[in-house]
Amino acid sequence: MGPNWTGHHPRAAWRGLLNDGKVGEHMQTKVNDVVSLERRGNVAVISIDNPPVNALSHPVREGLLASLRYAIADEDARAIVLVCAGRTFVAGADISEFDKPPQPPSLHESLDAIEVSPRPVVAAIHGTALGGGLELALACHYRVAVGSARFGLPEVNLGIIPGAGGTQRLPRLVGVNTALHMIATGAMIGATEALQSGLIDQIVEGDLTEGGVAFARQVSAEPRQHPRVRDRDEKLAEARAEPHLFDDFRASIARKSRGFLAPGVAVTAVEAAVNLPFDAGIARERQLIAELLQSEQSKAQRYFFFAERKSAKIPGLAADTPVVNVSRAAVIGAGTMGGGISMVLANAGIPVTLVEQNAENLERGLGVMRKNWEATAARGGLSQGQVEERLARITPTLNFEDIADADLVIEAVYEQLKLKKDVFAQVDRYAKQGALLATNTSGLDVNQIALATARPERVVGMHFFSPANVMKLLEVVRGDRSSDTAIASAMNMGKKMGKVPVLVGVCEGFVGNRMLAARGKQADRLLLEGALPHQVDRVMFDFGLPMGPYAMADLAAGIELRWRRRQETGEMDFIGDRLAELGRFGQKVGKGYYRYEPNSRAPLPDPEVEEIIREASRREGLQRRDISDQEILERLVYPMINEGARILEDGVAIRPGDIDVIWVYGYGWPTYRGGPMFYADSVGLAQIRDRLVALQAQHGDFFRPAALLERMAREGRRFQEWEQTRSAATVGS
Ligand SMILES: NC(=O)c1ccc[n+]([C@@H]2O[C@H](COP(=O)([O-])OP(=O)(O)OC[C@H]3O[C@@H](n4cnc5c(N)ncnc54)[C@H](O)[C@@H]3O)[C@@H](O)[C@H]2O)c1
Repeated sequence: MGPNWTGHHPRAAWRGLLNDGKVGEHMQTKVNDVVSLERRGNVAVISIDNPPVNALSHPVREGLLASLRYAIADEDARAIVLVCAGRTFVAGADISEFDKPPQPPSLHESLDAIEVSPRPVVAAIHGTALGGGLELALACHYRVAVGSARFGLPEVNLGIIPGAGGTQRLPRLVGVNTALHMIATGAMIGATEALQSGLIDQIVEGDLTEGGVAFARQVSAEPRQHPRVRDRDEKLAEARAEPHLFDDFRASIARKSRGFLAPGVAVTAVEAAVNLPFDAGIARERQLIAELLQSEQSKAQRYFFFAERKSAKIPGLAADTPVVNVSRAAVIGAGTMGGGISMVLANAGIPVTLVEQNAENLERGLGVMRKNWEATAARGGLSQGQVEERLARITPTLNFEDIADADLVIEAVYEQLKLKKDVFAQVDRYAKQGALLATNTSGLDVNQIALATARPERVVGMHFFSPANVMKLLEVVRGDRSSDTAIASAMNMGKKMGKVPVLVGVCEGFVGNRMLAARGKQADRLLLEGALPHQVDRVMFDFGLPMGPYAMADLAAGIELRWRRRQETGEMDFIGDRLAELGRFGQKVGKGYYRYEPNSRAPLPDPEVEEIIREASRREGLQRRDISDQEILERLVYPMINEGARILEDGVAIRPGDIDVIWVYGYGWPTYRGGPMFYADSVGLAQIRDRLVALQAQHGDFFRPAALLERMAREGRRFQEWEQTRSAATVGS
């Protein structure tokens, strides 16, 4: 049933608008603050103007419905075109309305009204038609778009599925395979693919509204039924002939969607489109999305969506803080990190001067970069020409003076304070005034490094994660003396390099590795008490992380790095030392905490390691015991949360959400658990505090709850309610 618009006397209303002189042809009349209406010849044009992305908020739905009624009532309007002002077509629902009571008209009601309209409705699309925006377009009779338009249903990234018919209409239009791909993985498609798959009817050259109006005029002149997506069945019939399609698709996304609820539910919803009549399918979709909206996963994923956006905002930093305009960069050190960072810069179109101390390492570094780009090309991600183009952006040199024309210098030499200070003294000598100077140190004191220059206000940490050309996280480290311009420039460059930059303060390990160290200590302790590496790792893997601490150590040369550090500090670690002495340096040599078959990355438990662990327990005088998975989980994750609370107390992170962003992008914490601080809220801070107190009684002060955690637990507060009480200036000072 369509809406009853006759009772509204819309014709009179629109005519009234026309007659009072405010509207004529080619003149827009506002229906409300965000939707307006005009007539171009015999075509009515409805425009949505709700910046920044024309989200389908309540006033948009209301204005849309009202203008549709006016347009339908006007006999002179043979067809209707729906366009958006600004940079994009409707790019989604208004997420902030999700947890509020729904305000009519619902999106469903608005879309139904379009679909049953007696005049054909044409969506004219530019920018990105996403989520509710694409569902809106799917309810129209036709869709045209500019060549640069993109289309997607990314709801799955928020732990939900499209809820306004998207799962039922899209497969009818583009076929089940493409629909599954888009709905269950959130993938976007471009205009060409959209045209080929049947999602759009035409690509418009030139002015979009004019093109949409011309298309509308043409189809309305043809004596034909205007197609409604709900009535189409050809492509569903094709899928019915392929009974294995859904199982095959489920298998194809199993690894990437491990632990997530929404992708599987998305497949179920598309299956309903194939097997149920349209209205029953819509009812099924509603039921499925209602369940997902209630789930802790979707709460976590929606929380994370906002946490990530918030992390880009730095309190106290004026929006108009001047930033360094980087047209050329220099990287010092062509090793693992320097090479990766140079690649990221070159990928972003920025020419790089790559400085090394010796020719051999420079050659090797360049070779690795070429190999990585060629591997991308082999997978189809780059053309051979692009590989050469990117390599050509790198200018290798052994001369420090060559950094003189760089606006950004990133140092990535060995992790030794004296060396880094020497390098920064050199950088200070040759770098141009006004350049941003950054160190990629993973743990050294950024303040001391900055003081090796005469311009510490220009120095920050830019802590990339390995492999730097892959990992999205960038910890931007604010030193005591770093200026606002230096901070704003580093954040800005992080974004330009395609990273997720998060501001942190100076401390051992910054945010991510400081929490990782807390977890690592407990993991090692659990080995002594009775656990084995594969049990510890399995608990972390099952929790949703890509791997546990021991598989990670084997992958990232952790045994060797820690062994070398212990040689400097004089610390002892029986297990780590024994493994290092046996040359068990991890995956690259085929053995570490695990053993590896040739050409395999699968970690296999190794009796030799287990014997070393047993020996370590004996030396500590510990009776090994069975340790439950739950205990392992709590002893690994609660100390991380506790350390996170200390990090907030110290002002090393601005907000709990920033810590969560760091853990998701730097360590693969599953977004369906929000991040460690969100997870703490899910468990309950009082419960975590109590468990820490109990563990403290049993195992000592390592577990003493942080004062902040203690206070928040007592007050019944959650990290999500964190309010910015410190000024940004305290971060890192
Ligand atoms: N590897 C990681 O996972 C990782 C992650 C984050 C940060 N970091 C940090 O990045 C930095 C570099 O680490 P890496 O793993 O790339 O080391 P690496 O050993 O792979 O490379 C260091 C390179 O620096 C060069 N170098 C040394 N002194 C130099 C000088 N005076 N001038 C020019 N070049 C010089 C060396 O020849 C070598 O090629 C360290 O501070 C490290 O702590 C490493």
